[in-house]
Amino acid sequence: MSVSATVSTSYDYLFKVLLCGDSGVGKTSMLCRFISDEMNDAHIATVGIDFKIKVLEIKGKKIKLQVWDTAGQERFKALTAQYYRKAQGILLVYDITNEKSFENTANWLRMIQENAISDVKMMLIANKADISKNRKVTTHQGKQLAKDYGMDFLETSALTAENLSEAFSILTENILKHMQNQFDKEVVNSQLSINKLDSYESDSKQESSCSC
Ligand code: GTP
Repeated sequence: MSVSATVSTSYDYLFKVLLCGDSGVGKTSMLCRFISDEMNDAHIATVGIDFKIKVLEIKGKKIKLQVWDTAGQERFKALTAQYYRKAQGILLVYDITNEKSFENTANWLRMIQENAISDVKMMLIANKADISKNRKVTTHQGKQLAKDYGMDFLETSALTAENLSEAFSILTENILKHMQNQFDKEVVNSQLSINKLDSYESDSKQESSCSC
């Protein structure tokens, strides 16, 4: 397993994001482009799982993003499944020139439902948008699938870097928003509990001071 990191000593949050999708759709290439702005020309199938780190600044917060690149090959599914539940965000990738990779998103969605946390933030990624002359999956099909599952949707290219940093930024921002909403809810709930306790205490004081 290799690790590459931007030099970072301090950050506000650590988020774990996972890339999944069929073998060859371009997950490793997307990650290489995002992390080090390089293109991965050859398809060297990922063995098991790999991860890379990048620090993003979103809404004034420094976020350390740990991105897990999972192998698309069937034989690694049992191994990669355990990483799903640790992820707060998932990028589900297909290749616009490969219809099978689009159809197989149904299997990946099942894998996500079975293994990830219930409130995981997801985005559907249609990669290889630069080779639209070989396109087999329309933008409308991608958008519709994303809508059906309540996911965001973007067409990207690891080759030209189109929408690549946007994909990671939007997903990270969604995780951040969700986390802050959860935090706000917890604050309101604990405030309600304190109020309840206060009114219970004042009721019992009144009762105990009653002379009758
Ligand atoms: P596994 O590790 O087997 O799961 O594959 P992967 O999804 O990580 O695919 P990988 O990134 O290795 O890319 C497979 C092939 O597609 C490589 O030859 C890449 O150069 C090519 N590729 C990836 N992304 C793009 C893209 O956006 N445009 C074009 N034209 N080629 C791409």
